[in-house]
Amino acid sequence: MSTDLALPARERAAAPDTGAVPPDPVLLRVADLTVTYGTGEDAHVAVRGASFALRRGERVAVVGESGSGKTTMGLAIAGLLTAPTAVTSAAELVFDGRALERGPARTVPVRTPGLSMVFQDAMTSLDPVATVGSQFAAVLRGAARLSNKAARERAAEWLVRVGLTDTARVLHARPYELSGGMRQRVMVALAMCGSPRLLIADEPTSALDASVSRDVMDLLTRMTQEEGASLLIITHDIELCRIYTDRMIVLYRGEVVDVCATAHVEQEATSPYTKALLSCVPTLEAADLDRLPTLGEFVPEAAAGVAEAPPAGTAAA
Ligand SMILES: Nc1ncnc2c1ncn2[C@@H]1O[C@H](COP(=O)(O)OP(=O)(O)O)[C@@H](O)[C@H]1O
Ligand SMILES: [Mg+2]
Repeated sequence: MSTDLALPARERAAAPDTGAVPPDPVLLRVADLTVTYGTGEDAHVAVRGASFALRRGERVAVVGESGSGKTTMGLAIAGLLTAPTAVTSAAELVFDGRALERGPARTVPVRTPGLSMVFQDAMTSLDPVATVGSQFAAVLRGAARLSNKAARERAAEWLVRVGLTDTARVLHARPYELSGGMRQRVMVALAMCGSPRLLIADEPTSALDASVSRDVMDLLTRMTQEEGASLLIITHDIELCRIYTDRMIVLYRGEVVDVCATAHVEQEATSPYTKALLSCVPTLEAADLDRLPTLGEFVPEAAAGVAEAPPAGTAAA
């Protein structure tokens, strides 16, 4: 497992020697992140000692099956998990040069400047009763200290950037008055309009059909590239990760079992679980197989019923 993030020699050689201290190529550094839901006998460790780093401008996937702790890890980094529901601890949690305050006793979510998060269902990210325009105004007035009028103009520019042309109608609409695809685009625009340096996207496409999924992934890629932001994409879709990401972090039962360059994952993966994940994806070459292998053939504990079943009443994936 490689977590070495030093710049490749080629890039180091190309950097002009101006005497100025170059920015740290690492945007997010996570060491020994552990998240526990509940206390006492009901305690459940959802993320156990996760360590990895994310470079500036990089697109990284967090993959793993349902219940492996992907969402929990994203929420913990974003600062959205608080006691007593969840207790978070980390040896190191540094974002853009600043230590994030994620102490175990923290009881209110803290918005981290420069970090935004979007979810699978646009309705989870959007306020259902506020107009799209007022939701933009709230973000833009906070992030850029714009007046109402300037915020409205800036919001319309963002809507055009994400491919929505009827901006006056969209700005006056409430989320339920828009189609699912439009809501997804509004959500991306809202998440990006504060110029985040990191966008965490939790299963942004799993509720969408294949072609709309590609549109949303293309949009997330283009927007983060244009803004020079990094993308941490949480998904259980290996194919999607192969197309859109530079590296993969593989989670299994709350533990990071591999961190690999996506293009070299077959060679770099050390965990049987990662190999299992890769083999269980249908490919054209495997089309003549009678059946696809199952996780249990690679990871014995998985045979009995893959990751721990979620407790009743909790939504996994
Ligand atoms: N609010 C919660 N309270 C208790 N347990 C939870 C809560 N949210 C998630 N879990 C549990 O933590 C584990 C990881 O969940 P999650 O992070 O949602 O996984 P994933 O996103 O990979 O499907 C699961 O066992 C899940 O049931
Ligand atoms: Mg999830």
